[in-house]
Amino acid sequence: MSRAPLPGARVEMPPRDTLARPLADLRISVIDRCNFRCPYCMPAEEYADDHEFLAKDERLRFEEIERIARAFVSLGVRKLRLTGGEPLLRRDLPELVRRLARIDGVADLALTTNGVLLPRFAAALKDAGLRRLTISLDTLDAATFRHLSGGRGEVDEVLAGIAAAERAGFAPLKLNCVVLRGVNDDQVLDLVARFRGSGHIVRFIEYMDVGTRNHWRREAVVPSTELKARIAARWPLRALQPNYTGEVARRYAFADGAGEIGFISSVSQPFCGDCSRARLSADGKLYTCLFARSGFDLRGPLRAGASDAELAALIAARWRQRADRYSERRAELRAGGTLEKVEMYTVGG
Ligand code: GTP
Ligand code: 5AD
Ligand code: SF4
Ligand code: SF4
Repeated sequence: MSRAPLPGARVEMPPRDTLARPLADLRISVIDRCNFRCPYCMPAEEYADDHEFLAKDERLRFEEIERIARAFVSLGVRKLRLTGGEPLLRRDLPELVRRLARIDGVADLALTTNGVLLPRFAAALKDAGLRRLTISLDTLDAATFRHLSGGRGEVDEVLAGIAAAERAGFAPLKLNCVVLRGVNDDQVLDLVARFRGSGHIVRFIEYMDVGTRNHWRREAVVPSTELKARIAARWPLRALQPNYTGEVARRYAFADGAGEIGFISSVSQPFCGDCSRARLSADGKLYTCLFARSGFDLRGPLRAGASDAELAALIAARWRQRADRYSERRAELRAGGTLEKVEMYTVGG
């Protein structure tokens, strides 16, 4: 594979967008299907069992994902995260992990999952070179969990997944909880109590208006400041510095030393200013924002025979045009009427 830049191509490492934000991080969605129907992502009434997801030949093959990932890494990306839908529904996922883990320059390789399939795959993922795991867990209450998984999952299955991840040697885990007012916001203290002192990091995510089919209502968003005050009233908290520039979660430590929690506050405190994340959909489109209207096709050029250098040049050129900052402009953009936006399970959050 040739790595030489195209004659005359301007090589800027890493490329910067129109707001001077570098390209640093790639999230790769490997499948648009999911075994859950979380109402804030893929509501069951919108996504029936016969919903048409991507067909097999529409999805990138592992070697195609690897080539695109290598192109991103050649531009300076050091961090990869696999997402879905539910990424563990993709056959042989550990094989993809193995391919990505051996790319020179990849410093971090993580996966976000709903956890149910971890008892089957955690050990193989670890063995393949996965560094970190993030597991979604919105509540410990069985009935609320059933509701929040669209009737498809049981909280005990996720807890078994967490145990399997621990046994496989993943630590610390990050546990993502999307908070919805009137649904699970009265259960956050239970989640905190359960995982305080475990070494794992629970992160509370504000319910976001991703896509167009999740019936988002601002009233259902619980601002992180409110949640933090509730938690801190029981267990005093101390703010921590970010681990890296552009980290989406604000970090807090328990004052008594029982570990760390985080808040992801895209609605009340947008973090577009440092956003250096690119997203690749399972069908090979590059999205430059979680709320993007459309993606930029990389599968076409790839299947038409583009070289590594040509792929990298296409990606860099698209990144340089990037101006997205949806969360900072949410009010203004929503006021303009119905918006076309990519769905969450297409770009994996
Ligand atoms: P770390 O590398 O562990 O810091 O991972 P992360 O927090 O970037 O990854 P994770 O998949 O756990 O992200 C948590 C959630 O934050 C996502 O599922 C999204 O809901 C939200 N999120 C992540 N990146 C963005 C972003 O760029 N914009 C917005 N609005 N939300 C984001
Ligand atoms: N708002 C906030 N977070 C969401 N997630 C999915 N949909 C939404 C939404 N509308 C979260 C999931 C998971 C991650 C991939 O994204 O709970 O933790
Ligand atoms: Fe599936 Fe995750 Fe979306 Fe829930 S949030 S429906 S688990 S992709
Ligand atoms: Fe990045 Fe878009 Fe999220 Fe802003 S809204 S942080 S630009 S992905």
